[in-house]
Amino acid sequence: MQIVIFDHEQQVADTAAQWIETLVNNKKSPILGLATGSTPIKLYQQLIRRYQEKKLTFKSTTSFNLDEYLGIDATNSQSYRHFMNENLFNHIDIDNTHTYLPTCAQGQNPREQGLAYEEKIKQLGGIDLQILGIGANGHIGFNEPTSSLASRTRIKTLSQQTLADNSRLFNNNEFQPTLAMTMGIATILDARYVLLMATGENKAKAVKDMITGPLSAICPASALQMHENAIILLDKTAASQLPDQEYYQWANAQNIKINQAFGLYHNY
Ligand code: PGA
Repeated sequence: MQIVIFDHEQQVADTAAQWIETLVNNKKSPILGLATGSTPIKLYQQLIRRYQEKKLTFKSTTSFNLDEYLGIDATNSQSYRHFMNENLFNHIDIDNTHTYLPTCAQGQNPREQGLAYEEKIKQLGGIDLQILGIGANGHIGFNEPTSSLASRTRIKTLSQQTLADNSRLFNNNEFQPTLAMTMGIATILDARYVLLMATGENKAKAVKDMITGPLSAICPASALQMHENAIILLDKTAASQLPDQEYYQWANAQNIKINQAFGLYHNY
């Protein structure tokens, strides 16, 4: 794991945007894994700005989102399709038919839908860079605690903590879905790079468990310990429970020197 701690959350977003810019500018048909939630909003704003400044184009990019609610359709303003359109896709030049979310409409077989999503990712060559947030309970995507570390795209029942955490986004009397279709943990681990962003004090315990805790289904994000190219971008509040912070800062300074000497290495 490469752990980078910043003073401000804007630096987390800017660094993540730089990773995406490097991918999009260096690969002919880049495949991005995208996330919803509060954390990536600043990243998406930064990508829109860089697109407007003509630093990058998404014309040949394909994207796969981590998850989507069940029981509401794409036109619902609470759907993750709506979130992605509003916060990113409508403001850049990505081909909307090349943006995928794992969906399962009423009457569709969730097993077939999950399998089809996995197949589509594989058929297009696999995800180059997967963007992730982390739940206060350690979830990635909607892989809630006790999710199989070998899981693939499927339906998950949201935990009480996730429902409570996300209830802030729903009005009184508005339907809050309790089920979602989500990439599995094994799906996420298949990405060539994973980049997890966490900001804010309420993520500090999950971040500590992810990085220093045992590899355990109780903290699904701890599965990233098994990934060859996991980059963890934190602001200092999200990093506040981490031991050895000076070591991470020092190790990053060494990485910067190596990159300056030998060039940035991306195995996309
Ligand atoms: P948040 O959600 O970015 O809204 O905190 C992250 C997550 O639940 O994965």
